[in-house]
Amino acid sequence: MSFQHEIVNWYAINKRNLPWRNTKDPYVIWLSEVILQQTRVEQGLPYFHAFHEAYPTVEDFANASETEILKLWQGLGYYSRGRNMLFTAKQVLELYNGIFPSNYSVLILLKGIGDYTAAAISSFSSDEKKAVLDGNVFRVLARYFGISTPINTTNGKKEFGNLAQQLIEGQLPSLYNQAIMEFGALQCKPKSPSCPNCPLQSGCVANNRELVNVLPVKVKKLVKRIRYFNYFVATQQDNILIHQRTEGDIWQQMFDFPLIETTTPYDELWSTFLDEAKLIFGEKVKLTHLLHKKHLLTHQTIYVDFFALDNYIVNFSKVAAVKWVSFHDFEQLPQPKVIANFMDFYQTNQL
Ligand code: ADE
Repeated sequence: MSFQHEIVNWYAINKRNLPWRNTKDPYVIWLSEVILQQTRVEQGLPYFHAFHEAYPTVEDFANASETEILKLWQGLGYYSRGRNMLFTAKQVLELYNGIFPSNYSVLILLKGIGDYTAAAISSFSSDEKKAVLDGNVFRVLARYFGISTPINTTNGKKEFGNLAQQLIEGQLPSLYNQAIMEFGALQCKPKSPSCPNCPLQSGCVANNRELVNVLPVKVKKLVKRIRYFNYFVATQQDNILIHQRTEGDIWQQMFDFPLIETTTPYDELWSTFLDEAKLIFGEKVKLTHLLHKKHLLTHQTIYVDFFALDNYIVNFSKVAAVKWVSFHDFEQLPQPKVIANFMDFYQTNQL
C-alpha cells in the first residue's frame, strides 16, 4: 500500500472528532487554524468554542471591538495574532462582502494568513490541491523518507514543500491533509512515537536506520533577549492602579501595572532602583517584594517581579497611561497572562 493510502486508512480508524472537522465553512476553519497555531488541540478547544459562539460569522467578528477580542484571546499569548484576526475579518467584510474566501491565491493576500493557513483553509473547505506543511507534516516526511535537510531553512522548506505537494496528487486534499497532520500529532509524535504499532513502520527510513530520534533536523536559532519587568502594585480599597501598554513592544494595548524595566535584576542595583521608584511614588515609598516569575516568550525571556507599595503618592506626570480602576473592571480588561496569573495569586492570598 502507498504511503498516502496507509496514512488515510490510519486516519479513518484513529482520528479525533474535532468540531472544526465537521464544517466546510472557511471562516470557522480559519478560526480554528489561527487558534491551533498558538496552542495544542486540548487547550485550543475552549477558545475555539468561545470565539465561535461569540462570533458565529466573520461579520460578527469584524464588528467586535479589539478589547473584546483580546479578552477572549487572553491566555493564548502572542497577542498580535488576536489583533491581526480583527484586521483580517474587517478585510473580508470590506473586500469580499463578508464572504470568507476559500481559494489559496485569495487567502494568501489576507493579513496574518501565511502559506500553511491558506493551504489548510483552501484544502479543508473546498478541496483545493494545496499540501499543508506544519510541524507534524515536516516530522512525518523527514522520518518516513529519511530527509535530514534542516526544516527551518529556506532549502528545507523548499524540499519538504515539493515532496508534500507531490504526495497530495491523486488524493482527496481535505482528507489527506487532515490525515497526515493527525498522524503526526498522535502516532508519529515528536517524543516517544508509537513505532511498534505503526502501519508505516516497514517502509520508514528513520525506523529502519534508527534515526527516529534524530529526524527531523533543525538548526539552532537566535539567542533570546532577556528583560526585567518590575511591577508596582498600588491598591486603595477596591481599586488598583493599572497601566495601558503602548505600541512597539509586546502586549500592545493590553493592561498591566506601572513598571520600571531594568537591564539587570532589581536587587543588583537596588539603590538606583529605589531612587527611580521614589521619583514616581514619592520619597517615603516603601516596597515589599511579593512575587518573582520567569515568563517565556518566543524571542524573549522576561523576569517579572511584583512589589506592593506603602506610603506612596502617584506622580502621574512621571508614569504614562496609568489610571485607577476597580478590581472588577480590571478583570474585564485584556491582560497579559503573567498579570492575570498574578491577580489570581494576589486575590487568593488576600494580599
Ligand atoms: N493543528 C492544526 N490544525 C489542526 C487541525 N485542523 N486539526 C487538528 N490539529 C490541528
